Amino acid sequence: MIEHLLKSVIRDVPDFPEPGIVFKDITPILQDPALCGAIVDSFVNRLTTGAIDVVAGIESRGFLFGLMLAQRLGKPFVPIRKQGKLPCRTIKQEYALEYGRATIEIHEDAFSPGARVLIHDDLLATGGTVVAASELIEQLGGQVAGYAFVIGLDFLKGHERLARYSSSVVTLAN
Ligand code: PRP
Ligand code: ADE
Repeated sequence: MIEHLLKSVIRDVPDFPEPGIVFKDITPILQDPALCGAIVDSFVNRLTTGAIDVVAGIESRGFLFGLMLAQRLGKPFVPIRKQGKLPCRTIKQEYALEYGRATIEIHEDAFSPGARVLIHDDLLATGGTVVAASELIEQLGGQVAGYAFVIGLDFLKGHERLARYSSSVVTLAN
């Protein structure tokens, strides 16, 4: 049900940001408050993680539903940001994504060691971004409790790279 709705709303934009990439534009979802709420409900209903202490969302599209999900779960939200944006002491990780390279950072004091962290992003493509996020969480002594994505591009097999961190992966559409 939500999968059909999402597929009807998400726009495929060919050759953005570079030739050969079909970009999944989620901005039409944001025009529909009921659908935004349904996304968060679906995450909560499908999570198989057990206990979660913290929700981490990745800049920038991972902030949109990440904070909503954290609020719904009654848990703290931790932003994982692109390099140079977080003001306090950070650790960083460079990675490759479907189009190019980037570096993400997390505050060293983002959560306590042992915390079970749910990672959220809008979209799983190659998995480069969330693998980097998972490495950051483990470096800080956290445990990846699971992943929640609005979209999973199955043909890029990103989920295969996540198995070593957590077997709990929720995607709502592909
Ligand atoms: C996009 C998307 C994911 C990532 C997925 O982020 O929001 O974070 O790419 O790709 P991957 O699975 O191949 O790593 P982008 O870096 O374009 O940043 P944005 O959210 O600020 O648009
Ligand atoms: N991030 C990585 N690949 C993407 C795609 N095809 N569409 C939107 N965001 C992406």
